[in-house]
Amino acid sequence: MNSKTIAFLGGGNMAASLVGGLVSGGWPVAQLRVAEPLAEKRQDLAARFGVYTTPENTEAVTEADVAVLAVKPQQVSTVAREIGKAVMDQGSLVVSIAAGVREPDIRRWLGFEAPVVRAMPNTPALVGSGATALAANPHVTTEQRDLAESILRAVGMVLWLSDESQMDAVTALSGSGPAYFFLLMELLEEAGGRLGLDQQTTRLLTLETAFGTAKMALESPEGPDDLRRRVTSPGGTTEQAIRRLEEGGIRGLFQAALEAARDRATEIGKELGGE
Ligand SMILES: NC(=O)c1ccc[n+]([C@@H]2O[C@H](COP(=O)([O-])OP(=O)(O)OC[C@H]3O[C@@H](n4cnc5c(N)ncnc54)[C@H](OP(=O)(O)O)[C@@H]3O)[C@@H](O)[C@H]2O)c1
Repeated sequence: MNSKTIAFLGGGNMAASLVGGLVSGGWPVAQLRVAEPLAEKRQDLAARFGVYTTPENTEAVTEADVAVLAVKPQQVSTVAREIGKAVMDQGSLVVSIAAGVREPDIRRWLGFEAPVVRAMPNTPALVGSGATALAANPHVTTEQRDLAESILRAVGMVLWLSDESQMDAVTALSGSGPAYFFLLMELLEEAGGRLGLDQQTTRLLTLETAFGTAKMALESPEGPDDLRRRVTSPGGTTEQAIRRLEEGGIRGLFQAALEAARDRATEIGKELGGE
């Protein structure tokens, strides 16, 4: 697989993380290129990873097996229109990591029935612990699916969706998800402070508790519901806290929050597609 050439369109944070992950995972650096308009960013990428960079999008995709759209969502239409012909002539795969941009729109901007994989990574990808959902259109071959998977696996876990229509729900869950956990950490720190703990103590205890809990949940065969019940002794402290949260409607709030995020993802997709 790593004999394939990957061209990144856009050399920002996400492209840098993907290139970094691929290089450290053994992908030959000669098989990677990045197109980026800003000279400063090109120099930085070349210096950090030894990767070939260019300001020209069409040059980057020439003879590449896959073009990764790693620009801001609002820039995808311009870049897709620019590279469409080269991608068509070569039969390259197009992978888009742009949040909210729908596969039929990308295909329309490319100008032909292109093989397109839409990926929805999340921010922890920037530290190699992302969770990415992928959806392929019917033009994508099995080999191209494997290629798309290898690229996103460089920054964390990947899974396939059976249908792109699930992407707005994924955006609400794992795309926006890091913000929910950050909010929870923020609230725990604030509440701990009001109980009289100093800031350094609340920060350290909050972060290590979050990390340890995620590690335990990942390593355990049990689901979070069972794990929670096991640490909630009848008559104990945790039971009191959980009862307050349930009485305050935490379940309904989370349901409403995810539905609002999902609906906004659908709206953004329409706006980006020009509807
Ligand atoms: N960061 C995340 O955690 C995250 C998570 C999920 C999805 N994503 C998606 O990943 C994509 C990239 O995000 P990012 O955080 O890496 O953004 P970013 O740092 O802004 O990177 C985008 C890069 O593309 C460059 N660019 C702009 N116009 C271009 C053009 N016409 N041709 C080629 N390159 C161009 C930008 O250059 P200038 O700076 O000069 O404009 C910038 O360096 C976005 O679509 C985002 O939705 C990101």
